[in-house]
Parts: sequence; C-alpha cells; structure tokens
Amino acid sequence: MTQMPGTIKAAAMTDTKISARNVQVYYGDTHAIKDVNIEIGARAVTAFIGPSGCGKSTFLRCLNRMNDTIDICRVEGSIDLDGEDIYDSRVDPVQLRAKVGMVFQKPNPFPKSIYDNIAYGPRIHGLVRKKADLDEIVASSLQKAGLWNEVKDRLDGPGTGLSGGQQQRLCIARAIAVSPEVILMDEPCSALDPIATAKVEELIDELRENFTIVIVTHSMQQAARVSQRTAFFHMGNLVEIGDTQDIFTNPVDKRTQDYITGRFG
Ligand SMILES: Nc1ncnc2c1ncn2[C@@H]1O[C@H](COP(=O)(O)OP(=O)(O)OP(=O)(O)O)[C@@H](O)[C@H]1O
Ligand SMILES: [Mg+2]
Repeated sequence: MTQMPGTIKAAAMTDTKISARNVQVYYGDTHAIKDVNIEIGARAVTAFIGPSGCGKSTFLRCLNRMNDTIDICRVEGSIDLDGEDIYDSRVDPVQLRAKVGMVFQKPNPFPKSIYDNIAYGPRIHGLVRKKADLDEIVASSLQKAGLWNEVKDRLDGPGTGLSGGQQQRLCIARAIAVSPEVILMDEPCSALDPIATAKVEELIDELRENFTIVIVTHSMQQAARVSQRTAFFHMGNLVEIGDTQDIFTNPVDKRTQDYITGRFG
C-alpha cells in the first residue's frame, strides 16, 4: 500500500482494505458528506465518532452501497474494496453486501428460528450443498458470535425470543455466516445494557483478527475500548482520523478537542 506521510500513522494502520476518495453524498439538496477521503485498515477496528447528524451512518452506508436503497440519495467519488471500485456498474450490490456485512442499531432478527436466521444468507448465496455443511456454518457462526452455549439447545426457537443482547449477537452471527470480509456496525450497542454491551465489545475485539470492522458509536469510552483507529466527523466533514489513543489524548483539530471533552455533541 502507499502511505501518505503525515496523514496516516504507520504504527496503527494495517494494510488498506477500503479506500474512499472525494466522496460526496447528497439527499436531494442536502449535502450530507463533503469530500471525504479515508483509508480503512484491514483486520482492525475503525471507530466513527461525531455529533448527531454529522453523517456517520450516511458514510458507513456508502461502504456497502446501502444508500442505493434510499431514492433521494446520491453518492459521488470512489470507494475501493481491495483496490476494486464498489460502485462499478459490474458490481452486484447483493454480492457486495455479503462481502461487506452490516449490523444495525436495533437488533433485527428475522421472524424465523435461530437456526434459519443464520442459515438464510448461506442458503440464498448458494454457499452450501449439504445439510451437514449448513449445520456446521450455523454452529461455527454462533460460536464466533459467542452465542452458541446460550442457544445450542433451542436452535428451532424463534430468534425474536432471545434477549436484546442475545439478538444483537445473533445478528452478528448472521452477518458472519456468509464469510464477509468487512463488518459495518452502526451503534450496535445502543439498545443494550452494560453487560450485553461488554459481551459485544469483547466479541468485536475477537473478530478483528479475521475481519475488518467499522463501528459507529456515540460512546467515546466504547471507541477507546474497541478501536485501533478513530475518525471524527463534523457537519459532513471528516475532520481527522488517527490512532485512537492519539485522537483521544492529543487531537489536532479544535473541533475534535471540543467534542471529546464534551463541549458539544
Ligand atoms: N434518508 C434520509 N433522507 C434525507 N436526509 C437524510 C437521510 N438520512 C440522513 N439524512 C441527513 O443526512 C445528514 C447526516 O445524517 P446521518 O444519519 O448520517 O448522521 P449521523 O451522524 O449518523 O447521526 P446520528 O448520530 O444521530 O445517528 C443529516 O442532516 C440527516 O438529516
Ligand atoms: Mg447514525
């Protein structure tokens, strides 16, 4: 990879997984993301922080083309995943979203059994031929999501019958089941209590060995706990990105300083 001296800290930055150039996002006349350039490192956790309405979710949704589903939304610029433009007309957004999975703020299990929640993706993407292989994917995804022991005896029970924290881990297991390379998480813990939050944070820390993770969070403690790099957004601009520790102890920009010290947001 090429590194731009001064903008990327070599110590914190792993190989580039996603590279966004001059990204603009508009909702009708609203200019929601303004010329964002960012590199996201592989097998690491990058946190997006910033005040409400600054564009974190909008930019996150650019990374797997979820904004395609919003009629009035227009995305300009380029976003490469492993050097390939994800907005190229030859890219199938459904395939892309299997590679770049997403976990939302509110746990949203399908109204199906726990087993079928996990099996759904591998089935529609044709990843398995035999029932035994599917069983294996279901078990290993639930294990990786730290949920197996809690649900192994009730796989036929409804996903919606789990607690909120369990449902969120089920959604993470569902995302993992199609072997994504990147997992996008938009405030994944905001509906969870502290114990469930701690479990999901532990899980994120384990997952980063194999996945590239981008997490949006309003909790600076959470960003500090789970991420290696942090990006601060403000009014549609990416103000700064760096080593998480540096952003929280020694930010370059006054707006970052004001935000992390609680002066606004
Ligand atoms: N579907 C939409 N249609 C129109 N405007 C939108 C839409 N989604 C977001 N916006 C606008 O884009 C801007 C950025 O919103 P976004 O949801 O990305 O912010 P955010 O940083 O995720 O905020 P929060 O922390 O509250 O979740 C806001 O001005 C918002 O009103
Ligand atoms: Mg948001």
